[in-house]
Amino acid sequence: MKDDQCLRIVYSKRETREFLDKPVDMETISKILEAGRRAGSAKNRQPWQFILIRDKENLQKLSEYGQFAQHLPSAAFAVVITIPDTYFQDRFDAGRAAQNMMLAAHILGLGSCPITLHSEEKAKHYLNIPGDQRIAICIAFGHPKPSKPLGKIIRKPLQEILHIEKYGDQPKS
Ligand SMILES: Cc1cc2nc3c(=O)[nH]c(=O)nc-3n(C[C@H](O)[C@H](O)[C@H](O)COP(=O)(O)O)c2cc1C
Repeated sequence: MKDDQCLRIVYSKRETREFLDKPVDMETISKILEAGRRAGSAKNRQPWQFILIRDKENLQKLSEYGQFAQHLPSAAFAVVITIPDTYFQDRFDAGRAAQNMMLAAHILGLGSCPITLHSEEKAKHYLNIPGDQRIAICIAFGHPKPSKPLGKIIRKPLQEILHIEKYGDQPKS
């Protein structure tokens, strides 16, 4: 793949909140999980556990534990990433694994969306997650509905977030 094609994949990742009622085969799911597994982590601790959820009833139930999770039941599958959250970098590491999985899905033509499970304790209970684990994120995956064009991409301009050498020093235009 050419450099600009790879970059286009990274730049064009958007969240998918509408999925087709179409399953994703286990081979494809395995590739996505593998991308998560391969993520780097602080001290190479690999603090994550991945819970793969394909059962519609479970997706439906989980959606009740997030405030903005109404699209979760329409996903083909979801991955819940848990961490011990005993080391200050655990959440950053989980984010790396999550983004790896979402980019892999994007490369494979699938959409995804991170979903916060605000009622974390209820979600943990439902999924039998041990008390010493925290839910870092739930990610919904599936075939995106092709009909809906995504809204405008809203991101802060680089000048607003970039500092050169020291905080507060803006790039010279
Ligand atoms: C940690 C995190 C939690 C998120 N939780 C939710 C969520 O609960 N529900 C949801 O629909 N989107 C959720 N999102 C997606 C964000 O809303 C999305 O990344 C942002 O609005 C940019 O969307 P875009 O790439 O489509 O422009 C979450 C994203 C992150 C990084």
